[in-house]
Amino acid sequence: MDIHILTLFPDMFRGVFEESIIKRAQEKGRVNIFLHDLRQFGLGKRKVADDYPYGGGAGMIMRIEPVYNAIKKIKTQNTRHYKTGGQERKKNKIKTILLTPQGEVLNEKKSKKLAKESSVVLICGHYKGLDERIRLNLIDEEISIGDYVLSGGEIAAMVLVDAMVRLIPGVLGNEESMRLDSFHQNILEGPLYTRPAEFEGIKVPDILLSGNHEQISDWRRKEALRRTYLKRPELLDMIKLTKEDKQMLEEIKKEKL
Ligand code: 6GU
Repeated sequence: MDIHILTLFPDMFRGVFEESIIKRAQEKGRVNIFLHDLRQFGLGKRKVADDYPYGGGAGMIMRIEPVYNAIKKIKTQNTRHYKTGGQERKKNKIKTILLTPQGEVLNEKKSKKLAKESSVVLICGHYKGLDERIRLNLIDEEISIGDYVLSGGEIAAMVLVDAMVRLIPGVLGNEESMRLDSFHQNILEGPLYTRPAEFEGIKVPDILLSGNHEQISDWRRKEALRRTYLKRPELLDMIKLTKEDKQMLEEIKKEKL
């Protein structure tokens, strides 16, 4: 996957992309991340990227030309050559995504869909807003990361990149990927423990030390269901519960009384 980021603040991203999973995904060649400084596409000697709003009012508005020129350059360079019937053809599929609090709110399902794209451009809005013609003519999708206002799209873009990259095949190890399978979807992870078995009198549940893998597996499922039931009950309406799940939930409800 190629991820292009259009931003006035490329430096904000560097630390985030140079650590942990996102760093490893790039090293493994699963994702290429390109930072594009919008200011370099600004107008004139002063590289102006914003202007006053028509009709008056406070705040500056991002102009369309820098965004247009940046996307045009990315699309030109993105052109990949591949062969069909012995003839070289051009492929140029690239999705443009605007990060804005007015967009569709991101969730895991949406992240999965976007992670299947071969190439995306993330446009980070700033200033008071963008010229409406950017949204109308240059954008395929608008994404928000939740119902609160951030100072700019950059941190939201980082969130989106992280959410997508970990879903690209081969990025996570086998064990980590397992936790994402359908059985574990839309259910909160249950409690986890590591050594010591006892700390200041606080013990790890006996079952986890028992060595009985079937019982441990049942316990984990039940605790995950319990946590979901107590903290995010609405998530339980979104998943297919097995007969065993339903029985565990009945027990949990009784135990709660
Ligand atoms: Cl994508 N941008 C901004 N500026 N604020 C947000 C957001 C995005 N998502 C939630 N709040």
